[in-house]
Amino acid sequence: MPKPRALTGDRPTGPLHLGHYLGSLVRRVELQNTHDLLVIIADVQALTTHYHRPELLSASVRQVALDNLAAGLDPAKITMFVQSEVPAIAELTVYLGMLARVNALRRNPTIKAEAKAYGYRDLTYGFLGYPVSQAADVTFCDATVVPVGDDQLPHLEFARELVRKFNAHYGPTLVEPQALLGPVPRLTGLDGNAKMSKSLGNCIFLSDGPREVTLRLDRAVTDPARVRRHDPGRPEVCTVHTYYRALEAAASEEAACACRAGQMGCVDCKQRLAGLINRRLEPMRARRQELEKPGLVEEILDHGAARAQALGAPTLARVRASLKLRPGVRDVT
Ligand code: TRP
Repeated sequence: MPKPRALTGDRPTGPLHLGHYLGSLVRRVELQNTHDLLVIIADVQALTTHYHRPELLSASVRQVALDNLAAGLDPAKITMFVQSEVPAIAELTVYLGMLARVNALRRNPTIKAEAKAYGYRDLTYGFLGYPVSQAADVTFCDATVVPVGDDQLPHLEFARELVRKFNAHYGPTLVEPQALLGPVPRLTGLDGNAKMSKSLGNCIFLSDGPREVTLRLDRAVTDPARVRRHDPGRPEVCTVHTYYRALEAAASEEAACACRAGQMGCVDCKQRLAGLINRRLEPMRARRQELEKPGLVEEILDHGAARAQALGAPTLARVRASLKLRPGVRDVT
């Protein structure tokens, strides 16, 4: 039995952070053993919000690739590729666009939330339509499983509807993907904001060194009502405590007890947490150093794009046949 195919990925708009790691990378590392895992670095999608900063995107492609590999993805097991290097995706996006409804895109809650966050009023065609392109990211290679966070569910539901519509019109052509939701809720930002996000500057990055981790935690918010070291604290309202919980149940319990009893102050608590985080990041730092050898990441991405394009060829041949388009010169060679 071939392994089921899974596809997931990131926008290359900056380095990945601890929230990405706990929320998705940990699970990718497990999935690479049970699934044929494709990891897309969605540079075209990143352009929808960062079209005015192309140089940031090209630097981030390498960073995001390194972050994923350093976290434990094995290039011998997975296929990691850059979206713009797989023309099959761009082609499928155009065809899916014929069936995608603008009203559905306008109602998409993730599109709405992002438009608001970026302050967009008059949306570009590319931004409003990126869920169509994301549907192509998933369906061009017949992926059945899409591991994502809950913010991506509207996009996946949209993709499923597009697939059903396509198949209803033209006969069975595309494979309907399914979401695989992660167990870990979103990680809170260091500033207490609901989301750790590079645009809010409230992150611990996977590429941070030990000192950076400590310095960033120094500024993290804790229980605002706790003024003196021996005041009893409330871990349930403390941002720093959410990191303990996400990292290690045992350490989290211990820290909560000491905090409630007023036995451990916030400074000590943060120091201990920095130790826990650094212990997780340490093996990644070592792997990153090896992977930073010139040409290595580029080779992995070249290989990934070639395999992705090869996987997409039969799907696109089916799609063109369903649409009664000429097969095209690509298929003759
Ligand atoms: N939209 C996703 C994000 O912002 C990234 C992404 C692009 C993606 N294409 C995908 C995720 C396909 C899953 C499947 O994080």
